[in-house]
Amino acid sequence: MFAVPHRRRAFAASVALLLGATQAVAAPADGSRLYAPCVVCHQPSAWGSPDGRIPNLAGQQRRYLERQLAVFRSGARIDTAMQVVTAHPTFSNQDNIDALAGYLSHLQANPDPVMGAGNHLRVGQELFVHICSACHGADGRGESGNRVPRIAGQHYPYLRAQIEAAAGLHKEFAPPEMSGALRAMLPGEKDALADYISRLGNADALLDLNRVDHTGSSAP
Ligand code: HEC
Ligand code: HEC
Repeated sequence: MFAVPHRRRAFAASVALLLGATQAVAAPADGSRLYAPCVVCHQPSAWGSPDGRIPNLAGQQRRYLERQLAVFRSGARIDTAMQVVTAHPTFSNQDNIDALAGYLSHLQANPDPVMGAGNHLRVGQELFVHICSACHGADGRGESGNRVPRIAGQHYPYLRAQIEAAAGLHKEFAPPEMSGALRAMLPGEKDALADYISRLGNADALLDLNRVDHTGSSAP
């Protein structure tokens, strides 16, 4: 008489195990769940840290994100925090990387990034239009096929640091055209560029610039 409920319990347990196993294989990886350990630094919105040193990830190009997670994990891109994070077994699974990148790329980008002082936006615009827009797009939103990142509306402190890293050839995957152009620039020009780019995609913040520049060619 005791054997029946026991067998039934064992059966139920093995069904549960089987379902669990099936789910782990068949269910699509859940990007929002995978994002949970990132919240402490990149914030729940994925808009980056309030001081602007940890980047916005929301609305970033999907293939660029996939690649960054892979290169942090391989150690080709160096950052202690991100290397520790991506060393987790979660990131040995390409489906998880794809799901996380897909989730982040569909979030709305930060509408209120940390910006620079706003002193030399015309200089920043000139440099951006003539050098950077060829790859990053006139609107700075990047391009998915070639894994060119969205830089429009990224935080000024983070942009400034990445520009310096590329200029100093400490950013291994920056294309030579980009590093070459940045290496030739004065510190003030790099400041102006990062400042202008942080304001791209933010209509209010660009109003001042449009008032100075009445050529009619400036982006909205
Ligand atoms: C302990 C803090 C911390 C945690 C936790 C963290 N990050 Fe980061 N993340 C950073 C910092 C700092 C950078 C900037 C690295 C640099 O300067 O190159 C960064 C950069 C990145 C970048 C590169 C963005 C770009 O524009 O190139 C991606 C992608 C990223 N993080 C994704 C994640 C994901 C996904 C998680 C969670 C699985 C995560 N991060 C967890 C601190 C963190
Ligand atoms: C030849 C194409 C090309 C040109 C020109 C170019 N870039 Fe890039 N840029 C890229 C690519 C590709 C990446 C991504 C590299 C990687 O995978 O790490 C990148 C990355 C960046 C990043 C890092 C973004 C992040 O989220 O970490 C910044 C900042 C940047 N570019 C700024 C600029 C600026 C400013 C200029 C103009 C002076 C410029 N780029 C010109 C192709 C280009």
